[in-house]
Amino acid sequence: MRNVLITGGAGFVGSNLAFYLKRDHPRWNVTALDNLHRRGSELNLPRLKRMGIRFLHGDVRIVEDLAAVGDIDLLVECSAEPSVLAGYHQSPAYLYQTNLLGTVNCLEICRRYGSEILFLSTSRVYPMGAINGLDYREDETRFHLKNAHDESSGVSLFGFSEDFPLKGARSLYGATKLCSELMVQEYIAAYDIRGLILRCGVLTGPWQMGKVDQGFVVLWMVNHLWPGRLAYMGYGGKGKQVRDILHIEDFYELIRVIINRIDETSGEIFNVGGGKDLSVSLCELTGACRQVTGNACSIDSVPDARKGDIPYYISDFRRIHALTGWKPRRNILDILVDIHAWLRDHESQLKTVMANY
Ligand SMILES: NC(=O)c1ccc[n+]([C@@H]2O[C@H](COP(=O)([O-])OP(=O)(O)OC[C@H]3O[C@@H](n4cnc5c(N)ncnc54)[C@H](O)[C@@H]3O)[C@@H](O)[C@H]2O)c1
Repeated sequence: MRNVLITGGAGFVGSNLAFYLKRDHPRWNVTALDNLHRRGSELNLPRLKRMGIRFLHGDVRIVEDLAAVGDIDLLVECSAEPSVLAGYHQSPAYLYQTNLLGTVNCLEICRRYGSEILFLSTSRVYPMGAINGLDYREDETRFHLKNAHDESSGVSLFGFSEDFPLKGARSLYGATKLCSELMVQEYIAAYDIRGLILRCGVLTGPWQMGKVDQGFVVLWMVNHLWPGRLAYMGYGGKGKQVRDILHIEDFYELIRVIINRIDETSGEIFNVGGGKDLSVSLCELTGACRQVTGNACSIDSVPDARKGDIPYYISDFRRIHALTGWKPRRNILDILVDIHAWLRDHESQLKTVMANY
């Protein structure tokens, strides 16, 4: 029996984790707190309700909203402004108030109740200049790392490990997350609470409200299923940039393992993602979306990269694998087929939210 609070619990990751936790532990009290800032998060509320998950309309920037939840013994911090472009063309206030102050408020609640915390961080804590500065070669469809780098450099053919150096700018979004990581570690050291940090690559799957600046896999599928327009942006505009992607249910399977083992991992940081076997470039994704939907989509080409862009990121998750044995079970086609089925099953609702998103 546990009292679990999931902040950002109506968002993509939060709602799915709430759903699966409650499915697997019907006796646990699971509360989802969210201010519904992300368009489309409201569509998750009936789904949470049907599962017996309590929803609180609240804001992590306000500590009293978090305190209203009551006693908890596990907090999963999934609230965020998760766009890497956030703050570049507008004030970063909402970004740092939610992503940094909000996390500190969550830590305060953990301190008050002696609760464990699981903090969802991001691969975007790794600096852009260092990633952009690596040597790449390109083939017909994607960039590849040119050299098999020495493992001690933090980047190898397995991807980026936790040892990749952190010096340099990383995007305003990434900076809020790295600052929060430091605060999580300080609270663990200072107040004897237990917790851990997961630096996630791209997570995707059903119930992600994909948009241009966050959730590109769903965005790609939406614009193939309901033909629209997409663009390859940056790095020559050919769609050769590469990411690893992970199905949200595979991510949950890791969460299920580690929440029972926080004792062994408290204070640690792990990279989590699909890894090298689940990596895809945008133009490869186009081909796969065509295959799944049978539709083509017009794709513009914008050669110049935007602030915050990087050409290549793959999560080297060997560290968490060595500790837990976890690895993803679903491949890229499985992920796309699941997203496609979800979009079709909820077409009327989702079309209104996703059109021009
Ligand atoms: N999805 C990914 O690919 C990915 C990758 C790496 C890290 N992450 C991290 O995972 C977490 C969840 O991301 P997501 O993809 O589910 O994003 P999301 O936007 O779908 O979910 C975030 C939720 O937080 C809520 N929220 C925003 N501001 C809030 C506030 N001030 N108070 C309360 N709720 C607020 C939003 O309404 C939304 O429902 C984030 O911390 C994100 O940085 C996600």
